[in-house]
Amino acid sequence: MRPKTICVIGLGYIGLPTASLLATKGYSVLGVDVAPSVVETINAGDIHIVEPELDILVRSAVGSGNLRASLTPEPADVFVIAVPTPFKGDHEPELAYVDSATDALCPHLSPGDLVILESTSPVGTTERVAARIAQKRPELTEADRVFVAHCPERVLPGHILRELIENDRIVGGVDGPSTDAAVRFYETFVSGEVIATNARTAEMCKLTENSYRDTNIAFANELSMLCHELGMNVWELIRLANRHPRVDILNPGAGVGGHCLAVDPWFIVHSAPDTARLIRTAREVNDGKAHWVVDRVVEKASRFRDPVVVCLGLAYKPDIDDLRESPALEIAKALTAKVDGTVLAVEPNITAYEGLEITDLHDALERADIVVALVSHREFKRVDRALLQAKVLIDACGVFR
Ligand SMILES: NC(=O)c1ccc[n+]([C@@H]2O[C@H](COP(=O)([O-])OP(=O)(O)OC[C@H]3O[C@@H](n4cnc5c(N)ncnc54)[C@H](O)[C@@H]3O)[C@@H](O)[C@H]2O)c1
Repeated sequence: MRPKTICVIGLGYIGLPTASLLATKGYSVLGVDVAPSVVETINAGDIHIVEPELDILVRSAVGSGNLRASLTPEPADVFVIAVPTPFKGDHEPELAYVDSATDALCPHLSPGDLVILESTSPVGTTERVAARIAQKRPELTEADRVFVAHCPERVLPGHILRELIENDRIVGGVDGPSTDAAVRFYETFVSGEVIATNARTAEMCKLTENSYRDTNIAFANELSMLCHELGMNVWELIRLANRHPRVDILNPGAGVGGHCLAVDPWFIVHSAPDTARLIRTAREVNDGKAHWVVDRVVEKASRFRDPVVVCLGLAYKPDIDDLRESPALEIAKALTAKVDGTVLAVEPNITAYEGLEITDLHDALERADIVVALVSHREFKRVDRALLQAKVLIDACGVFR
């Protein structure tokens, strides 16, 4: 029988679009978040995150009566956990949010319920959720059992509502019946293929996708540093190498940021530190690239008396306002501390950041001695190259290539 009631725990970039989409597909959905402001905002039919068309979807879901928000879970047929999974300390996975979400739903479980972990998680986390449920609700076994599965989320911010439906989904349960129950659930609202595996492979699949990207970007970043050392243009080199029919090198940049690529590979490294050598090195190369950019700017700045250094871009990738794990932001902060002069930042997508002097593009370029291009925002692509002629230009992202 198709489940009727869903409880989505964690109403951020993943949980809120998922909850509102399910509500518009006819499910009765309770969204749960520990932040009272989030719960109030959603119950008022508004949203607290930036995502195209999400406001319309939430307003219609709340208006239809199919979506409510609350601070605490209630009984449901399906529980979806979409809470943060950052790292702490020395890149150790922080599973406290997953644990507390699991603990919160445990009292509301009934036989036959399905619990799905959607948070990006280290291998073994879905089994950890199942074990926690078994410990707190030991009577939910055999004929009275619950089902537990992982289904990693792969949506791209800015395209979440379309990709939630159209992307293929990898679904892995802690056992066969859990996998089957989760596949049946996703097939009710996903038009992409829903592919069954086990929980560990599903967890590793998401981590693998992001480690693959991170490793390939590390190769490009290493090339950019080699080219500098050996006296050639990395953009020309990559363009030429990519003329080989089986070579496809990515673009170098100021580093790698965001809450996925810069975080998830560490989950693999933490699980198998002696074996995940390439993945760890890729992370180190990408983090090291930001320090390398800082060193180059500091060296150029030391040739000026009272230099004005302009950092173009702070976000972790072009044309967004997201600063999470952003190498550009780290570079601007480090330069503010290290350069004996003035450091200005230009970030068209935000208005202020404590400790940084953010200014308008034209004012900054007029005053600049050194221009450091960190993010290929569309506004920077339109800059008149004549304005850069008398400046020292360090183009880490290739926006002026
Ligand atoms: N944002 C993305 O593009 C994206 C893409 C793929 C996967 N993911 C993964 O999805 C997961 C969620 O990410 P997000 O971007 O939605 O995070 P987010 O920070 O936008 O939202 C998480 C929400 O969970 C709430 N929360 C924290 N602990 C809670 C608890 N115990 N109970 C109830 N609510 C709780 C927070 O208040 C917050 O509103 C992470 O594992 C992330 O890696 C995110």
